[in-house]
Amino acid sequence: MDLADLTRDLQALQADALAAVAAAPDAAALDALELDILGKKGRLTGVLRGIGALAPEERPQVGAIANAVRSAIEAALAERGTTLRGSELKARLAAEAVDVTTPGRPIARGGYHPIPETIAEIAEIFGRFGFVIHESPEVEDDLRNFQMLNIAPDHPARDLWDTMYVDVAGHLLRTHTSPGQIRVMHSVAPPIRALLPGRCYRYEAIDASHASEFFQVEGIMVDEGTTMADLKGLLDQFAKAMYGADKRTRFRPGYYPFTEPSVAFDVECLVCGGAGCPACSRSGWMTILGAGMMHPVVLQYGGLDPERYQGFAFGMGVERIANLRHAVGDLRLYLENDLRFLEQFA
Ligand code: PHE
Repeated sequence: MDLADLTRDLQALQADALAAVAAAPDAAALDALELDILGKKGRLTGVLRGIGALAPEERPQVGAIANAVRSAIEAALAERGTTLRGSELKARLAAEAVDVTTPGRPIARGGYHPIPETIAEIAEIFGRFGFVIHESPEVEDDLRNFQMLNIAPDHPARDLWDTMYVDVAGHLLRTHTSPGQIRVMHSVAPPIRALLPGRCYRYEAIDASHASEFFQVEGIMVDEGTTMADLKGLLDQFAKAMYGADKRTRFRPGYYPFTEPSVAFDVECLVCGGAGCPACSRSGWMTILGAGMMHPVVLQYGGLDPERYQGFAFGMGVERIANLRHAVGDLRLYLENDLRFLEQFA
């Protein structure tokens, strides 16, 4: 091996390497080539091993040639690398391109459950008359649910509310929203216009028209000189806003221990308009809520002087109000959260 051989080998290696680099199909092949030619155990190192056989004065010449060969190969590798990586990126961009003109997938939109939706509508209507929402707990005490509402422990009217008790003495799941009347009177001073929506519980044999959980909206107004005429006017406006401005309404005598006098409030049948049909049991009227003037005893339990303040109260079943609008036959549907039912309201 002399200087000429070595020079030839180096030039051959360069020619071979440049051809291989030019032909490398992708960046990975290029990396492999680099290792094979310029790596520690690569072909260039292999050729240079022959340098030991040369005379010392010849060695620098070979070193210079070897450096030129290395630079040329490195330059070719770099250039080819840029080209390959550029076209790989282009190919990827093309393959992963997003067609922004493709129509989007529709977003599934939620809707209101008919019960909170109805409560919101009721609250909006009474809100126009200055009624403000108050909250009251679902676990109540016997005092507020019954006794302070003028329903003594042995009062036969307790039979109206089949009660679910909790295992804390003197406590129960409220059977109606009326205990909120007491709580509101204890928390704000007259004039009071309060609306109390919420879930109530009764121990019922469950069927299409009886549920053990249901919703009510209670309302009270307490002020000096509040009369039954205020109650009647307000409820009439409510019914007209809810069911139509042409709807007639009426009071019928009713009974609740916490109101005196008590009434049932009817709106003309929404199905037959008053002529009489099966939906209204041929009466022409549908009862939508119970109401009355707050009993003096209740005002007293609320900490108010019944000689000075009068008040009225009303309470309605939300499912019933919603049913009249949507003609839902079975109360249980409101509690089951079956989307096939709920989507009809969305
Ligand atoms: N609390 C009564 C019920 O559950 C409804 C009602 C409320 C009646 C307020 C009169 C006044 O049936």
